Amino acid sequence: MEDRKVSPLHILSSSQFDRPFLDYMCVLTDTIRRFDKSKEGLMYLQGLLAHKRAMLYFTQPSTRTFLSFQTACQIVGMKTNEIRDSSTSSERKGESIEDSLRTFSSYVDIIIMRTPVPGLCDRIASLLNETDRPVPIINAGSGPDEHPTQALLDIYTLNRSFIRQGGIDGKTITMVGDLKRGRTIRSLSWLLTNYTDTRIIFASPPEFRIGDDLRQKLVAKGLRFEETDQLEDALRNTDAVYVTRVQDEYDQAGESKKVDSSRFHLKHHHLKLMKESAVIMHPLPRRDELDLAIDADPRAKYWRQERNGMWTRVALLTKIFGVDRKIVLPEL
Ligand code: CP
Repeated sequence: MEDRKVSPLHILSSSQFDRPFLDYMCVLTDTIRRFDKSKEGLMYLQGLLAHKRAMLYFTQPSTRTFLSFQTACQIVGMKTNEIRDSSTSSERKGESIEDSLRTFSSYVDIIIMRTPVPGLCDRIASLLNETDRPVPIINAGSGPDEHPTQALLDIYTLNRSFIRQGGIDGKTITMVGDLKRGRTIRSLSWLLTNYTDTRIIFASPPEFRIGDDLRQKLVAKGLRFEETDQLEDALRNTDAVYVTRVQDEYDQAGESKKVDSSRFHLKHHHLKLMKESAVIMHPLPRRDELDLAIDADPRAKYWRQERNGMWTRVALLTKIFGVDRKIVLPEL
């Protein structure tokens, strides 16, 4: 009899998600959140994956992705192990990253990884697919490349914000900041190609414009977008503004310091230019590109956005392990 291995559901790139999947994840996340309202509901969630173990391999700094995944695991009853610094693992003794990750797969049922290396998650997923324990890989941020679970939580936040305004279809999203090296920009832009008549305005200094590869992908997908260095004009016409920080951790020789990004800082005085119904998002962490004084404005959604990340990741874990079927969903 042929030995057919079935590959698990890896989460590697936002390009793997289609509209039905995104709509389903939004409904699933909404439904799971209702369990948070009672002790019985939370106990039910804790039983869903109490037989599973997760490895959190985060060798690039993280606060909210790490903690929200760790907490999401706790919510569904999973036990977690972690490595946050490869110098404390046998990589220090010369073990290859491939062997390290294969070792994790001997002990756990899923590997959630953040890495500075673009494409590493894909490589590890392919490698594990050829082994006897092809555990799922979740890309929790891979260098300047991709951050697919951030994009999922961003879509969930946009969807909730526009629930009484026809959803994400037809909306204009302005993305601001370091668009060249911002992985959240790349992953979210790609997801927006799944929506109808959605438009993106990319507002950045010339040095931080989106890369040619993303530009070409968006053109091929037929998504309407424009690039500008006039932030104020863009803000007047936007339904959502998505602010990002300068990703200077990817500088080769301090080049970020030579770019004047200050014209792309969202300040309190910009609020009066924006629609009353607009939403303000940021993947966080922030520096000075997002004025603290904006936090009190009802349009600021970034604190909600990071909490949404935890629930979106709970939903994703249930989907990967097939226990989403134990959540009673409303008719789609
Ligand atoms: N948004 C995000 O990825 O934040 P962290 O780097 O804190 O995980």
